[in-house]
Amino acid sequence: ARSTTITVEVDDVSYTDDVEPRLLLVQYLRERLGKTGTLIGCDTTNCGACTVHLDGTSVKSCTMFAVQADGRRVTTIEGLARDGKLTPLQRAFHECHALQCGFCTPGMIMQSASLLQENPHPSEQEIREGLEGNLCRCTGYQNIVAAVQAAADGTTTSDSATENG
Ligand code: FES
Ligand code: FES
Repeated sequence: ARSTTITVEVDDVSYTDDVEPRLLLVQYLRERLGKTGTLIGCDTTNCGACTVHLDGTSVKSCTMFAVQADGRRVTTIEGLARDGKLTPLQRAFHECHALQCGFCTPGMIMQSASLLQENPHPSEQEIREGLEGNLCRCTGYQNIVAAVQAAADGTTTSDSATENG
């Protein structure tokens, strides 16, 4: 197929690449850019493991084509931490034991980050609704909800304590 040239800013770096029209954004991120923290957990667009931010809003990157990201800004889980420091939300996931196998975690964190941007102090119900599009097979969601609440409340410890976790 004829390829198109796109320019996308991913995790603060600008990339210009030739892509085929049918290449999914998630494939572009993983296969072309090596951003393998963004996962593929289904082929039915319902697991949320592929969640990234597009111009600051969460999207499932398996539901759009790379060409649709042309001229836009994408943040992946790999771009969330700054200067090697986990965000309070990432620390909260660690401290609240909000992950077991970890497969859902990058998507959960990206979705939660977007939720907290829109609603810095969500209720438990709002968190559950906000994460409805992200599936976790392991945790039963309780600790994930607790982690998002802890991040919202600012009750995580300083990042130096968990830098290696
Ligand atoms: Fe499952 Fe995108 S890979 S929703
Ligand atoms: Fe295993 Fe969520 S921790 S799927």
